[in-house]
Amino acid sequence: MKTILIQLDTDSLPSTFDRVVAVDAGVDELFSYGGVNAGNVETLVHGAMFTRGVPDLKSTAIFLGGSQVADGEALLKRVKKIFFGPMRVSVMMDSNGSNTTAAAAVLAARKHVTLKGADALVLAGTGPVGQRASQLLAKEGARVRVASRSVDRARQTCDAIVAAVPGAELTPVQSTSSAELEKACEGVAVVIAAGAAGVELLSAEQVKGMSALKVAIDLNAVPPAGIAGVEVMDKAVERNGVLCYGAIGVGGTKMKIHKAALKKLFTANDLVLDTEAIYAIGSELG
Ligand SMILES: NC(=O)c1ccc[n+]([C@@H]2O[C@H](COP(=O)([O-])OP(=O)(O)OC[C@H]3O[C@@H](n4cnc5c(N)ncnc54)[C@H](OP(=O)(O)O)[C@@H]3O)[C@@H](O)[C@H]2O)c1
Repeated sequence: MKTILIQLDTDSLPSTFDRVVAVDAGVDELFSYGGVNAGNVETLVHGAMFTRGVPDLKSTAIFLGGSQVADGEALLKRVKKIFFGPMRVSVMMDSNGSNTTAAAAVLAARKHVTLKGADALVLAGTGPVGQRASQLLAKEGARVRVASRSVDRARQTCDAIVAAVPGAELTPVQSTSSAELEKACEGVAVVIAAGAAGVELLSAEQVKGMSALKVAIDLNAVPPAGIAGVEVMDKAVERNGVLCYGAIGVGGTKMKIHKAALKKLFTANDLVLDTEAIYAIGSELG
């Protein structure tokens, strides 16, 4: 039975990036649709559910993507509601690479630091990638400081994470002034910068002042770096005693996780690959 991946993209043009990864992951047939939303997705999902017999439904799967992560989340919620009983296919959600990127970043940190009980700081932790990285760090047992220019936004993010990870140790922090940022950095072993492209969030001086810092991960690929001194290609490169990862350095693992998750979709017809499931797949890659 041929594997079919149905790519549902919330943007008007389905992502070529996601299409290339699907081909490289070995799907036999790729059906791509753009402009998909919670209001028009039902017939597309019915087409996936009602064509093949139940034992063969694992050979059909859905990938949800697009640049707007909130739209992807809404789409996933809707798609799950359309399924019933055994009439379902596996689904992966990775709008704007948010889940695979966060998973790759936390796995990079985990290689060098025992996350349980560690103090971690996620700069710009309110965005799609930052929120997911904070969630995964918290799930690993780290004490996570979620930083934002607005402490209210940071608090909202922490509340959303606690709902997904009961008992998560999270502290919302404001990072607007240098004094606030320096306080947020105190005692931190892992820092992940998940800010918008081309925004420096941590200066070289501030990094130097972080005496407990072991791993610095910057997910922004557009100059200037999110963490000054971290190079975009860095992959466990030691700089002044700190192991550094840049966006491309993390990107290799992200690609491996993306392909492995696509392959996993075709092992059952009832998988929902969102943040934690995608992280678990990354963990299995070693
Ligand atoms: N390496 C990869 O494979 C890969 C894949 C996907 C994404 N990325 C990168 O990962 C990063 C995070 O992605 P995302 O989609 O979560 O980012 P995003 O939504 O564009 O921005 C994340 C956060 O950055 C903060 N921010 C925005 N503009 C700012 C400014 N001018 N100054 C300071 N902070 C600002 C905001 O937080 P507050 O308003 O709360 O402060 C926002 O919530 C991006 O740099 C993206 O390019 C990398």
